[in-house]
This record gives sequence, structure tokens and C-alpha cells, in this order.
Amino acid sequence: MRSPPGEPTSRLLLAVSALFVFPVVVAAQIGLPIEVTGVAGTTESVLLHIPQNAGNHVRALRMQIHNLEYPGMVSVRINESRWFSLTNDSVTVAEPGRSYGGIGGGVTTLKVTLALPAGTVADGSNTIDFRFNGTNGVASGFRVLAFDFLDADSHSVLPAEAFAEEDPNAWEPPLRDPTNISAGRSLWLAASLVANGLPKAPAIRAHCSDCHAEDGRDLKYFNLSNASIIARSLFHGLSELQGRQIASYIRSLPLANPGRAWNPPYQPGPGQDAQPIANWAAGAGLKWVLDSDADTIPFLFGPGVHGAAAVSPAAFAPDGNLNAREIPIALPLPDWNHWLPRVHPVDAFGASFEKSSFAHLYEASDPAKLATAAGIAGFFDKWSKSRSQFLTPRLAHALKKGSAERTDAFYSAELWQLVKTWEITQERGLEGSGQEFYGGAESRIWLNTIPAATAPAAVNIPNGPNGMGGSALTSEYFNSAWYELQVVVNSGGHRRHGKLPLDWVYLAGRFLELQRLSGRPEPGRLLITVAKAMQSSDPNIGPENASEGWRPDRNIDPRIMIAKDWAPMFSALGGEMKQAITESLLTAWLDKTVRYRLESYFQLGQLASSYTPPPGLRDISGGRAWEAAEQFQTAGVSVQLIHRLQAWGRSYSDLAGLYHY
Ligand code: HEC
Repeated sequence: MRSPPGEPTSRLLLAVSALFVFPVVVAAQIGLPIEVTGVAGTTESVLLHIPQNAGNHVRALRMQIHNLEYPGMVSVRINESRWFSLTNDSVTVAEPGRSYGGIGGGVTTLKVTLALPAGTVADGSNTIDFRFNGTNGVASGFRVLAFDFLDADSHSVLPAEAFAEEDPNAWEPPLRDPTNISAGRSLWLAASLVANGLPKAPAIRAHCSDCHAEDGRDLKYFNLSNASIIARSLFHGLSELQGRQIASYIRSLPLANPGRAWNPPYQPGPGQDAQPIANWAAGAGLKWVLDSDADTIPFLFGPGVHGAAAVSPAAFAPDGNLNAREIPIALPLPDWNHWLPRVHPVDAFGASFEKSSFAHLYEASDPAKLATAAGIAGFFDKWSKSRSQFLTPRLAHALKKGSAERTDAFYSAELWQLVKTWEITQERGLEGSGQEFYGGAESRIWLNTIPAATAPAAVNIPNGPNGMGGSALTSEYFNSAWYELQVVVNSGGHRRHGKLPLDWVYLAGRFLELQRLSGRPEPGRLLITVAKAMQSSDPNIGPENASEGWRPDRNIDPRIMIAKDWAPMFSALGGEMKQAITESLLTAWLDKTVRYRLESYFQLGQLASSYTPPPGLRDISGGRAWEAAEQFQTAGVSVQLIHRLQAWGRSYSDLAGLYHY
């Protein structure tokens, strides 16, 4: 089924050796990815040549696979070997996927290593078969993005030169004439579909255009192949010809296509801001999904210097602007397949959805109103509220039932809004419109909080058997991933308003929860969040404005570095680094805090509405950092800084006593 990666330019044998342990001869290059998409049993084969005395050194096959959704979905065979089914027992999964549940967990682009019995790989010609074992009602295939044989020392056997990346710009529409293209467009918008590729799948009311971007631009943007579009059309009950027509329509869309199906949308990484705004959604690519969170740290403190010496208060300076788009993290964001809703709200909720303002506001997203930043923010705000109004009353009722199907319906309703937000954002080119609103603080931004609202926790999806994929860890991965997307696309641009766009203290709590479930601390990613929390208020608005100004009592404070519950998170940094960061964070915080007159922290009228941080997070919020002076000292913070902190604490407490605060 796979569209060929262009005819190999030559059939010459390519000999490669030198650097690599074994000289390997490959008949032309192997096109990547190897896409296996279609019905159960669909298989793709790759032929490669291994010379004399190399084959018997091979001990394992390492693969990077996109859309590896569940154990047993993929099988691999080498020559006449048995079929090896890929499960968490049969393969070793690499980080970061392993910590989030491996195969069947939250992350579905995985690097896996399959041990091979001696003698599996022969000298000379070898064939590898990759097989799709069938759908779970969601997946219709997978892509092998890279593979390699490994010897006993885990050394690579196949040279990079053996492979060639496929170029989507070389793809052609399967049918070129306007009649078929226009038939494809009509099918995309209106063809009657069934839910999935399982036998006796029910009819659904949703069309391709309802779950995807209305005009299909997502498939173009992320470069879904003709083969995958055809397979997906068959999956939904259409014919091969209809699939070819839809693929032809998508291919002929006159739109840019910077993405790949496996590159997580908006994944942060260096160089993002230098790209045109229209490319932002393509993300920085899998190459910038770090294996280890420790690798995030150097990017926080600027290039050049390494280690603790590079750490300075500047990264955390509340009036500064750390660029979360450019700092790579070790959490893969969800790929486009995981943005898409599995059930459309019209099928989950029927007529009540159609009558709701949740549905109507989307249909009426008026271009005139979206012409200014304030108009855009206003629209999304209203639309977000309409979603809560629609879902909340239904939720209380549905959760009593607690079936996985219900979980799908509510979570999919969130995803539907996220996908449609992307659609409106792309169609109208909204990502650059925030600059006027944010005084240039952000060169690109989403003027909404819909990514955060996509967290399964936002519709009370439980962390348990009725949670996502029946797993607390998977639910928490998605909570964290959607919050992370929010931090990347809109962390507030110094325009905090109450707890919008993010409740930072609550968000910090999610890091702890994810770590509890995954066993994998991410101090680097958390420190980006801490910096953005510190930078959430307007530099020109002081504490007297409780909803928009600098309010250390309502934010994450530097005690996060020394609080007991957080020790396992930050111990991963190593002593010297942890000490330097603690000192820098406290310095940045105190410098800002003491800049305002003491009285401005005690505004009448605000005393009544005193803010209570979430339980369990009181030791990292509330602003009374001086109460932890002793712990700061133990953490190696300089005596001078401790004295400044204590002096501030004394003045604050004296005045607080006066106000009975
Ligand atoms: C009910 C919502 C819904 C409808 C309707 C729908 N899709 Fe999708 N689509 C999805 C979801 C969810 C996925 C992700 C599947 C996965 O995770 O493997 C997806 C994935 C895809 C993919 C990528 C699959 C891959 O190879 O990774 C293509 C292509 C696609 N859809 C095309 C279509 C076409 C064409 C139609 C209409 C015939 C359609 N979709 C209708 C929800 C929908």
C-alpha cells in the first residue's frame, strides 16, 4: 500500500563500511518511513543485503515506530523466523516512552529494541516484514521511522547511508482531473461513514470534515500520505476509488505542508521563532524531544557556559521573558492523531449538541469579530465557557456510569474543540495577532486557554480503570501534555488575569502527580513552568492589583526548591546545580518583591478575598518564603541572601500584624 519514495535513482549497489562495525551492502536505499496502513494483516517488506560474516553478529533489531498504539498491534519477521509480536514483554522501550507506560501508554511514537535469536539474520539477502495485526477501533496503521540491527555491544550495524527520507513534496494526487478532485472534496465534507474498521461498525453522523479541519488542511499540513488517506477512507466504510478521490483533493489543496504525522504539533525546540509563524504548528520535530530532562537545563540558562556556572537569576527574572517555544523538553507532546477526537460530539450527544451554543459558536466564528486580538480572545473565551455549560451538567450524570465509552465521549468533546481551534487559528492566521495585545512580548501566541482545557482532568476523567487507556499514568500523561501545550502556545505574555491563562500552583502540582506515577522527575521542564509563573504578571502592575499584578502570595514561590515533597524532583539535578538554581530563583523573586512598597501588598478590600492555595501545595505557595530561611540555608544559599530574605519577612510580618492580615 505504501506510496513508493520515488523510484530509486539508480539500481547500483551501495557499499558502505569504514566507520561501521560491519560493511553492509544495500540494494539501493531503503525509503523511510516504512508505512504499514490498511486492514488486519497488511504487511510491508524491506530487502537488505548483509555481507559475509556480519549476519551472525546481529543480536537485536531496534525500531522507532509512529502510532504504536497497543501491545500486539505490530509484528515483525526476519526471513523465515517466526513473527515477533511487539509487546512490553517482547521488547525494551526507550525513554521517554518507557516511563509513560511503554506500548499502550500515553506516548505512541516509541523506540523499541527486539532481541533476536542468534542466526536470525543471515549473510547476503535478508527480508524484514512489518505487519499490522488489526485495528482496536482507532488505529489503521503505523510507520517505521527508523530501524537498525545491533550487535552484542549494541553497536549499530546499518549505516545511515542505507536509508533515504521520503520527500512529501514529491507526492502526486492519485487522480489529477478536476472531476475526481471535486468528488473528493464532496466526500470529505458529506460522505456517510461508519465509526471504524471493525466488523459491524455502526453508522455515524460525523463526516471527515467534522473531526478533522473542515477543509482537510490538517492532512495536508502534517503530510498524511495517499496510502494512509485511502486506508482511512476504507476504515470508515468508503470505497477504494472514493479514498483515492479524497486523497487527490487533499494533495491538491494549495496550502503549505511543513509538518509530519509523527512530529508533535508545537513541540518546542531551538530555531522555532526563526521559522515563519505558519510553520509553528509543525513543531521542532522528534529530534528535539529529549531523551533526558537533564538536557533541558543548559537551554534555560543560555548557550555557551555549561554546568552550575551558567545559572543566573536572569532566567527567572519576573520582568524577563523566557521563551518556552525554544527550550526543548523531554516530554513528547501528543501527535496530530492524538489531537483528533475518536467520537464526534454529534454522535456522542446527538441533537442536544447541535442545539447548544458550544456547537453554534463554532459555526458562527465570524471573521469580522476575529479581526482584532481583543475580538479573538473574546470569542475563544465565550466558546470555552459554552463548553463548560454544555459538558458540566452532563458530566455529573455520566460519571456515575463511569464507562470507558463515556470517558471517550467527554474527552473527545474536548479534543473536538481543540482541533477546531487549530482549524480557525490556521484558516485565519491568528497566531501572529497577539503581538498588539501582548505589547510584543510574544512573537506568536494563541489567545485562548483551550489546550489546558483539553486535559482529561478538566472533565473529571478519573485516574483509574475508567481513565484514559484504563490507566492513571496515561491520564496523567495527557493532563501534563495538554498543560505543557498551553505553556508553549500561551503562558500569558505578562498579561495574567487572576488564574488565567494558567493556575500555576495547580500546574506545579501536576508535575508532582506525573512523577509519582511515572517515577521520572522532570525538574528542567518544571523550571520552565516556574519561570513562566514568575513572569506571568505585567512588569508595570504592582501588588495593589491582585488580579493582574505581582502577587507572590498567589503564585509558586522559591520554596519549591527546598520543600520536602519536591526533593525527589530536584535531586535529579545534582547538588551543585540545585544549589545554584535555588540561589538564583530566590534572588530573582526577592529582587522583584522588595521593589514594591510594603503597603501595596496590603490593599483594603483584598483582605476579604484571601486566596487559599490548593491543599498539598501550601509549602510552595503563599509567598512567605522567609519562613523557610533555615531550609534555604541548609540548601547552600548565601548568608547575605538569607539576611535580605529575613529582613523582608520581618517588615512584612510586622505590617501584616498591624492589618490583622
Ligand atoms: C469521529 C471522528 C473522525 C472522523 C469522522 C474521521 N476521522 Fe480521521 N482520524 C480520527 C482519529 C481519532 C484519528 C487518529 C487515529 C489513530 O490514532 O490511529 C484519525 C486519523 C486519520 C488519518 C491518519 C491515520 C494514520 O495513518 O496515522 C487520516 C489519513 C484520516 N484520519 C483521514 C480521514 C478521512 C479521509 C475521513 C473521512 C473518510 C476521516 N478521517 C474521518 C478521527 C476521525
